[in-house]
Amino acid sequence: MWKKWFSKKNVSVSQNSQANQALADAGPVPRHIAVIMDGNGRWARQKGCPRTFGHRAGAETLREIVKAASEIGVEVLSAYAFSTENWKRPAEEVSFLMRLFSDYLDNEINELDENNVKIRFIGNIGGLSLVLQNKIAKAQQQTAGNTGMVLNLAVNYGGRAEITQAVCQLAEKVQAGQMRPDEITEELIGNHLYTSGLPDPDLLIRPSGDCRISNFLLWQLAYTEFWLTDIQWPDFTPAHLLEAIQDFQRRDRRFGGLNKSK
Ligand code: FPP
Repeated sequence: MWKKWFSKKNVSVSQNSQANQALADAGPVPRHIAVIMDGNGRWARQKGCPRTFGHRAGAETLREIVKAASEIGVEVLSAYAFSTENWKRPAEEVSFLMRLFSDYLDNEINELDENNVKIRFIGNIGGLSLVLQNKIAKAQQQTAGNTGMVLNLAVNYGGRAEITQAVCQLAEKVQAGQMRPDEITEELIGNHLYTSGLPDPDLLIRPSGDCRISNFLLWQLAYTEFWLTDIQWPDFTPAHLLEAIQDFQRRDRRFGGLNKSK
């Protein structure tokens, strides 16, 4: 169990399962939630602190949200930690973030593992330092057999890059005579994305007031419900997560079709 989560919120396991039951009774709980962890820099600046202070606080928020989502019974939580475009930031900020990811793996992996969380990284992992690549491989290996929530961390991730590498893989198969172009289906493209095997996100949460996708999960977000808030990521709490889920439960999802009652 997530000791710190329960002690901090002062709720018992049975209270928690009652709350989960009430949530499930109210409507479908999103199987997959994606989060763009935005607003760290602005949050820090508003406090007169360096942007890196905001990233550290953002990592703390991620810990809390992972625990909360896992307790709620979310199957997959995808968090956008570093985009293919974030390399344009000042070198000090980039190296701070890389250290933060590395520390996160060092400090969190055992607790994630004990709580049956399976960690998975999406993005161009080969473009990261060898030290980080090794830690990522170790973390994925350690938690590979876990059957609880999948924590999908997007690092050096770009939606366009993801689709491009899928297209390249398929083109190579066609060129090698392993398949015909007309055998390429949406399902096959999905199977060549980093997220292969995972359901598409039901709910995307973007804090910090910006209303854009920022090259995140471009293919997978086709029918995802968006929940946008002005709260900066470091101030985002499990109560906000619950609010987003409850709002999601009131949405009328039609996937381009019509509901039976209409
Ligand atoms: C976007 O906010 C945030 C990032 C580019 C970094 C996100 C990283 C974390 C939350 C650290 C935790 C992650 C892990 C995996 C430990 P921004 O910096 O663009 O904020 P701004 O829009 O206010 O400038």
